[in-house]
Amino acid sequence: MDREIKLAPSILAADFMKLAEQIGECERNGAKYLHYDVMDGLFVPSLSFGLPVLSGIRKGTGLFIDCHLMIVEPARYVDQFIDAGADSVTIHLESCKETGCMETLQKIREKGAKCGISIKPATPVVHILPYLGMVDMVLLMSVEPGFGGQPFIGSTFEKLKQLESLRREGNFDFDIEVDGGITLENVPEVIDAGANVIVSGSSVFKGNIADNIRGFLSVFDAKKTDRN
Ligand code: DX5
Ligand code: ZN
Repeated sequence: MDREIKLAPSILAADFMKLAEQIGECERNGAKYLHYDVMDGLFVPSLSFGLPVLSGIRKGTGLFIDCHLMIVEPARYVDQFIDAGADSVTIHLESCKETGCMETLQKIREKGAKCGISIKPATPVVHILPYLGMVDMVLLMSVEPGFGGQPFIGSTFEKLKQLESLRREGNFDFDIEVDGGITLENVPEVIDAGANVIVSGSSVFKGNIADNIRGFLSVFDAKKTDRN
């Protein structure tokens, strides 16, 4: 099955004084998703932004908001993130302790949003086997979650390929998202390895946003042609 390749700019790298303008630029130039990184200072060392910022953004954009929760016990907050405007909520396998991941993913579903499961670079793909039949998206972290601007971890290629074969063999229907250190140089190989939702912070927001997005979209177009 040929999946649409989508760019998901991560606003963690945006200029927050120009946030509305920069999100508008993403939308006008052909990004499909907006990647929204929530960090709680516990699951990851940093703090980012939470519910009020999301509600504000929701009012100003039609982009699909892809909410990446890097917080402990995400079940506590999924309803609120969906109410604030998330179209999709992705939780970390490593973050569900008291309320299991299965239950948390079901909660997201029941509330009417898409659900995703994510793993850190050191977590093996086989650990998410039980969830593959019930998620809309699997997010493979290609850097240690917590900070933008880190270099891509090369072992992600193997994990992407492994996940893609599991999807094919099991006849599953989830998107494969990759997040961290994606550049115009490595994105062709990332797509070849199986990813179709491409998160990028620094490579979209540093420099000229329109040019950066055009660069990504022309790679996506070339890959689409390759596949046909
Ligand atoms: C890191 C975040 C990423 C980050 C990616 O924990 O999940 O979404 O913004 O930024 P870059 O593309 O700069 O690595
Ligand atoms: Zn992210």
